[in-house]
Amino acid sequence: MKDIRQIINEALEKIKNADVAALESVKTEYLGKNGVLTQILKSLSSRSIEDKKRIGSEANNAKSVIEVEIESKKENLKKALLDEKMREEKLDCSKSFYFPFSKGSFHPIIQTMRDISVVFKSLGFAVAEGPEIETEWYNFEALNIPESHPARDAQDTFYLEGAKALLRTHTSPGQIHVMEKHKPPIRVIVPGKVYRNEASDATHFSTFHQVEGLAVDENVTFADLKAVVSDFIRKFFRSDIGMRFRPSHFQFTEPSAEVDMQCVFCKGKGCRLCKFSGWIEILGCGMVHPNVLKSVRYDCEKYTGYAFGLGVERITMFKYGIDDIRLFYENDLRFLRQF
Ligand code: DAH
Repeated sequence: MKDIRQIINEALEKIKNADVAALESVKTEYLGKNGVLTQILKSLSSRSIEDKKRIGSEANNAKSVIEVEIESKKENLKKALLDEKMREEKLDCSKSFYFPFSKGSFHPIIQTMRDISVVFKSLGFAVAEGPEIETEWYNFEALNIPESHPARDAQDTFYLEGAKALLRTHTSPGQIHVMEKHKPPIRVIVPGKVYRNEASDATHFSTFHQVEGLAVDENVTFADLKAVVSDFIRKFFRSDIGMRFRPSHFQFTEPSAEVDMQCVFCKGKGCRLCKFSGWIEILGCGMVHPNVLKSVRYDCEKYTGYAFGLGVERITMFKYGIDDIRLFYENDLRFLRQF
């Protein structure tokens, strides 16, 4: 009895400190063909029946105790090994690594159009798109620009050869598309690319971008237009800068106005960017002309609306102090990487 208990204690001690290989030898030493406990069981044949019963059961019990202990130790070792492996192989995503290309960014014009959209969305406007190839009806007629109007001059418009189509000269035809598809109330902006057949210089380029705005409903007034435009300027430039509405003329609005804002660079004192006037013109706007509403079969006795159009390049140049529109289209990475 005493011997067997001692054998168990000895074995358990060895198991406690064993690694995977040592466990195997402990197993052989105690439970193997010639193992300590196997020997004891074998030696029982010469003993009395009583001894056989007693010692046999003690030895078998010892065998199973040792076996269970070996198995559980094996499991623990396996788990520890896996834990260690997991710790060593963990991926550190915060580590910097070599990547031969610098991170890209949006073109400043795209960025400005996104910024403009964010502000107008916050003011309850939806965003729509119109086609860049238009007919004379959408680009001119529906907008109350008659055939004789100078804006139709072939000098300004790119006509598509052989087709009765042209590249839109402004985003205003977007107003017509929206009104054809939807009934009032309408509050929408239409950002997009426009084309003009003219020589380029520091402030003119044959391709540029505009954002058109349109709101039509019952009882829409010039005061609503003024509020929305003022809100936009405040939010877009993040400043309470001065602005003024100047009477102007557009065929598709009556009355019409142009909006100037105080130069953010010189605060109205006069500088190179505002051509020493202290003011910069940023958009054209007005109340939608009844003829425009009629062209989409809206009841112009019931509905009124306002519209505006702003030049994206202009506003971007103004925001970042850029003095040549051509920089946007030269794809010089030294310029583009600054945004
Ligand atoms: N379409 C005009 C242009 O290209 C800009 C404009 C002015 C749009 C007044 C409007 C507006 O919607 O009301 O110069």
